[in-house]
Amino acid sequence: MIKIYPDTEALGLAAAELFAAEARQAVQARGRFTVALSGGSTPRRAYQLLANEAFRKLVPWRDTHIFWGDERCVPGDDPRNNALMARQELLDHVPVPPEQIHPLLCVPSPQEGAAAYEALLRAFFADGPPRFDLLLLGLGVNGHTASLFPDTAVLDEQQRWVADVYVAEEGLHRLTLTAAAINQAALVVFLVSGADKAPVLRKVLKEAQNPRSIPARLIKPVDGGLLWLVDRDAARQLRTRKEY
Ligand code: 6PG
Repeated sequence: MIKIYPDTEALGLAAAELFAAEARQAVQARGRFTVALSGGSTPRRAYQLLANEAFRKLVPWRDTHIFWGDERCVPGDDPRNNALMARQELLDHVPVPPEQIHPLLCVPSPQEGAAAYEALLRAFFADGPPRFDLLLLGLGVNGHTASLFPDTAVLDEQQRWVADVYVAEEGLHRLTLTAAAINQAALVVFLVSGADKAPVLRKVLKEAQNPRSIPARLIKPVDGGLLWLVDRDAARQLRTRKEY
């Protein structure tokens, strides 16, 4: 399903409302809420809204477990670090117990960091599938999501849940959940904003593109939901009923 919002503020608010609703429902049903946060800049406003008074009271933070969909292998205080942005905008302002916040760490090496995170996930999900209650994703202009970049070997990974990726165009190693892991989530929500994303959003949603060139097309939850929250600028090349 695609929901289109007039601007980034409305998109951020919708994302925050969805986060809060999913959190309350999960805690009511299972006593905990597991969420994998997205990196990039699009979710920033949603994180800021969740940190302010109105939402802070709505979310059962003490029963919330925070993971990430991907991370750049940069120092923790580097502005490109996804966990840093989430801490600055959200996690430093809400009472999630520190032991329930699980950043991806590229130490002692990206490979070992990926293996360690996978072991953590397998233990956390008690050897069942990594069924995050909510998994947030963004969309890059080249069709990547998380750190699943076009024409990279990680796109073919069927067994591992976490992999290390070298992104040549950035000269960076990254850690990412694989498509196989992402597709086990109970609900995957893409947040997409801005006119620069309009062409790629059309390719993902409306054109039969090879998923190796548009990795976001690999995201098809096995038995979970898939929701696109987009703003009007990003949706300008779609012909979809407008919902606000
Ligand atoms: C990352 C993200 C990545 C991001 C997209 C969109 O670490 O880079 O996980 O997948 O979601 O690149 O980024 P923006 O939201 O900044 O456009």
